[in-house]
Formats: sequence, structure tokens, C-alpha cells
Amino acid sequence: MSNKTVTITDNATGKSVEFPLRSGTLGPDVIDIKDLYKEFGYFTYDPGFTATASCRSDITYIDGDQGILLYRGYPIEQLAEKSTFLEVAYLLLYGDLPTAEQLERFTDSITRHTMVNESVKNFFNGFHYNAHPMAMLTAVVGSLSAFYHDGLDINDPADRDLSAHRIIAKLPTIAAAAFKHMVGEPFVYPNNALSYTGNFLNMLFARPSEPYEVNPVAEKALDQLLILHADHEQNASTSTVRLAGSTGTNPFAAIAAGCAALWGPSHGGANEAVLKMLEEIGTVDNVPKYIAKAKDKDDPFRLMGFGHRVYKNYDPRAAIIRKTCHEVLNELGVSHDPQLELAMKLEEIALQDEYFIERKLYPNVDFYSGIIYRALGIPTEFFTVLFAIGRAPGWVAQWMEMITDPEQRIGRPRQIYTGAPKRDYVPIDQRG
Ligand code: CMC
Repeated sequence: MSNKTVTITDNATGKSVEFPLRSGTLGPDVIDIKDLYKEFGYFTYDPGFTATASCRSDITYIDGDQGILLYRGYPIEQLAEKSTFLEVAYLLLYGDLPTAEQLERFTDSITRHTMVNESVKNFFNGFHYNAHPMAMLTAVVGSLSAFYHDGLDINDPADRDLSAHRIIAKLPTIAAAAFKHMVGEPFVYPNNALSYTGNFLNMLFARPSEPYEVNPVAEKALDQLLILHADHEQNASTSTVRLAGSTGTNPFAAIAAGCAALWGPSHGGANEAVLKMLEEIGTVDNVPKYIAKAKDKDDPFRLMGFGHRVYKNYDPRAAIIRKTCHEVLNELGVSHDPQLELAMKLEEIALQDEYFIERKLYPNVDFYSGIIYRALGIPTEFFTVLFAIGRAPGWVAQWMEMITDPEQRIGRPRQIYTGAPKRDYVPIDQRG
């Protein structure tokens, strides 16, 4: 803790109290107001937590004004270009890039945990044929604690590791099963000879009736997308994982809670919403009409894939993905995708518009990811599932960090009560 303090004075009573300022490695200092209620009898009010740090974390740093994203200190641009998803997962979980031997052992462990208990398949028979894959993913991830209770002692580091590896390894298998259920095809078992991402593509697209070979362009692009989604400090789903985990619940339950939070269109559901929006806009001629709708305060329409709570500059992930998006479409031979052209026009017009400039609304990661997923042959409803697979190492790393933080307590925000004051029960025959 730094020696710096901030003095807060209650003008009503004249009482002044010094509160410590905490400094991180990077980023603004934070006023430690733990004792505020004790000193003044006041809580703070911060809906949406726009000015509140809920924890200390060594994992991810974002500078939203500069458009900087670091995982364990490494810039996202370098990781996206040079690393692999599993190496990034190791980095997030254990704090440093692995040696060759550490990566080999980690990869081996993840690969050997890709199978799910055969009974897990039965869950899918219970889902309606048109169930949303996020509904299936959330439910089945939550059910994993019913199968893997041998590693659920959250106070045992070996158990935490085992559960972490299981979550990262099994999520693609469950996701692919949800996909196959959606499209009415038989499940494909994991193939341990393939890479993490190659195996996932194989489980999605292989069919018993014909040979399937993983396309290396698709494999590389998807691996990079997973890296870009791997962590994003205390976003809504990660905060949900931490809050659920703070009660001491098991990690599968906490990650299922994270999946549920991710599903919303303001968070991980935005990539699906972008494609739906592009479909609705239809042609380039309609772009001005939809830009006007987005600016109209009486219209609930928002430009999906635009804006971010933290980035008030270009989302660095969007810059990487924009480039990849063009490369993938070229290499897969879909360079004249009308939706991509529409997306580019929308971006161009929005970026020149005073409304978007003033509010610093730039395209975010979801604006382009959906277009790549579509080019890879993935249906729109499945996009958020891919975000969940990418985010899994981040969720697990943040959960592990929380469990081992000596300052960790059950998450329990306060409120301003605005309901009726105390009143007496009125028997039903006397109510007017
Ligand atoms: N289209 C039109 N106006 C917008 C948009 C948008 N996409 N986003 C923000 N605004 C306006 C908003 O109306 C407000 O205007 P005013 O100051 O006149 O009232 C101003 O910009 C600030 O917006 P806010 O709602 O206070 O910002 P927020 O930090 O609460 O919301 C957001 C952030 C991401 C939820 C929001 O920008 C949004 O709804 N974007 C579309 C959904 C989306 O793409 N989400 C993915 C986020 S990135 C992936 C992830 O991390 O999950």
C-alpha cells in the first residue's frame, strides 16, 4: 500500500477522515473505503460499478483510454500473433509463460481431460431440438459437479488445478455436443491427436458419413479469436464467477453462473446480435436510417458491436480481429461477403458521425468476430458459446486468484432502500 491518502470530510458534521490510497502496478490509484461506514455511517452508491474496484488482481490490465490490453503484462497484440490458446491459458492460470516442458505437460493434461462422462450425453436428449446452445452449455457445465466430485475441495490446490483443467478441456466437448444437437447430427468424440482448436473444429464439423479434415486457416483464426477472448479483467461474467465463487460454491457452479451472465446481448451475446443487426439492416442503402435509429434516444436500437464500458478508444482486440477477418475471408474465398461490406460501411459512417465521436464509441471485438465465425460455417446462435470457450481460462484464473486472496470475503454489495417504510400487515378483508 502507498503512503498516499485521501481525506473525506462530512460537511454536515465537519468530521474528516483520511483513507488510504492503494496503488497497483499500472492504472489509477484506488481509495480504500472499507472503513467508510464505520467512520461515517455512509455507504457509497455506484450502480454498474463504474468507479469501484471489487478486488486486487495480477491477471489482466486494461487501459481503456489508450486501448491497451495486457495478459500478465504481455500485450494482446504479441500474444495474438505469436502464442497459442493453450499457452495463453497456462499464462493466465499460472502467471508466466510456460517452458517447453511445462507447456507439454499442460497440453497433455488438457488433452486427456477432453472426454466427458458418457452419461453427460443423456442431458442433450432432454433438450428441445431448437434449444439455444447457451442454454445447453450453461446447464451442462453446471451439471459437471454432479460427475466430478473427486476434485471439489476448493481449499486444496491440486483439486483446484484438476477442476481448472477439466473446465478448459471439457467446455469444447460440451459445446460441440450442443452444436450437434442443434443441427441434428451424431456427437463426435474428442480426437487427442489434434490440437485444442483443431479437435474442437473436428467435433463440430466431422460426420460419420464422410472424411473431414481440419482447415488450418480456420484452426489458426479460431485459436486467435479464443486468445483475444481469454480474459478481460472484471467484466460482468468474470465478476459473476467471482461473486458466485466467493460463497465457496464449486468451480463448475461458478463457471456456469459466468456462462449465464455472458449470454446477455450487452456482453457475450453481442456477437450474435451484430449478425442479426446486419441481417436486419440488409443493404448499404439502409445504413443511414439505422445510424439515425441508434442516435435516437426514443428508439431502443443500439449499434451492436459498438461501444464499450472500459475502452473509450479503439478496442485493441477489434484492431487485431479486423485484420484477421479480411485475411480469413480472402483465404476461405469469401472476400465478397455482402455482410462484411455492409459492416465496413457501417463502421465507416459511424466513425465519422459526431454522435459516435463525442461518446468515443468504436467497434468492439464482437463487431468482427461474428463475421469470421460465419465464414467458418458456424451458425449465429452458436457465437456466444465460442466466446465462453475463449473466456474459460480467464474465468478459472480469476476464480483461483480469488480463492487464494487472503482479503477475499463473500461478495455482498449494499443498497439504497427506496421502498415503503415500515408498515403493519392489513388483513385482506380490510384492504381498500
Ligand atoms: N449505439 C448507440 N449509442 C450507444 C451505444 C451503441 N452501441 N453504446 C453506447 N451508446 C451511447 C449511450 O446511449 C450513451 O449516450 P448518452 O450519453 O447520450 O446517454 C453513451 O453512448 C454512453 O453509453 P452507456 O450505455 O452509458 O455506456 P455503458 O458503458 O453503460 O455501456 C455497452 C457499454 C457495451 C453495454 C454499450 O456500449 C452497448 O450497449 N453496446 C452495444 C452492445 C455491445 O456491442 N456489447 C459488447 C461489448 S464488448 C464485448 C464484451 O466485453 O462483452
